Amino acid sequence: MKIDVFTLFPEWFQWFASQRHVQNVLATGSSLECVNPREHTPLSGGQVDDTPFGGGAGMVLRVDVLDSALRAHYGVDPVALRERRRVIALAPGGRLLDEPLVEELAREPALTLLCGRYEGFDERIIEHFASDVVSIGRYVLSGGELATMVLCDAVLRKLPGALGDERSATEESFSAALEGNPEYPHYTRPAEYRGWQVPEVLLSGHHEQIARWRRERSRERGARAPGHDGD
Ligand SMILES: C[S@@+](CC[C@H](N)C(=O)[O-])C[C@H]1O[C@@H](n2cnc3c(N)ncnc32)[C@H](O)[C@@H]1O
Repeated sequence: MKIDVFTLFPEWFQWFASQRHVQNVLATGSSLECVNPREHTPLSGGQVDDTPFGGGAGMVLRVDVLDSALRAHYGVDPVALRERRRVIALAPGGRLLDEPLVEELAREPALTLLCGRYEGFDERIIEHFASDVVSIGRYVLSGGELATMVLCDAVLRKLPGALGDERSATEESFSAALEGNPEYPHYTRPAEYRGWQVPEVLLSGHHEQIARWRRERSRERGARAPGHDGD
């Protein structure tokens, strides 16, 4: 998968790209490239934003700046780009990122991610350049960089080679293997700690009973109200 991130803070992604699971995916031929719109702005002094028409606080990312940056990177009119690849603007009010959307994005050969800053994007960027608007939750971050990393992390760990054990990504919370439910609880050594016992069945060695117990716990968690479970 080829991922291009349009961000005013490309240095934020150096840490992300150095993480083991990301490195693993990059080693299989995927890429994670950052483009700084400030380097392509047609305006003087590296200007990328401006005050909002109609007044109000903050600055708005300019459509002509994003147009230039996308055009410089892809060599096509950005209006046509979204027919060739998903161009995702990160915004608090967008489609909520969930497991079905992550799986959908993990099947794409290429993604373009647009990180907002300040008050956000001039709406024409969303109307004319973006194919999707995605939110990582109903709260407001200072910029799209962390939201983009969350999206990339969730997507990249689905790709072959990301994780040490491929099964980690097939039977986990919200996966089809668990019927879309949260994962069952895990335990490790010691089997007893301060009088807190690990469920007997997990020590039994009966694979079928263990699988049934796990399925049941997972379904129980799914039936409970969201936010009441551990990991
Ligand atoms: C301070 S926010 C802008 C908030 C905007 N004025 C509003 O009220 O919706 C700056 C940028 O951070 C990113 N951002 C903030 N919260 C986000 C979230 N929950 N999901 C995705 N992106 C987010 C977006 O790219 C946004 O353009």
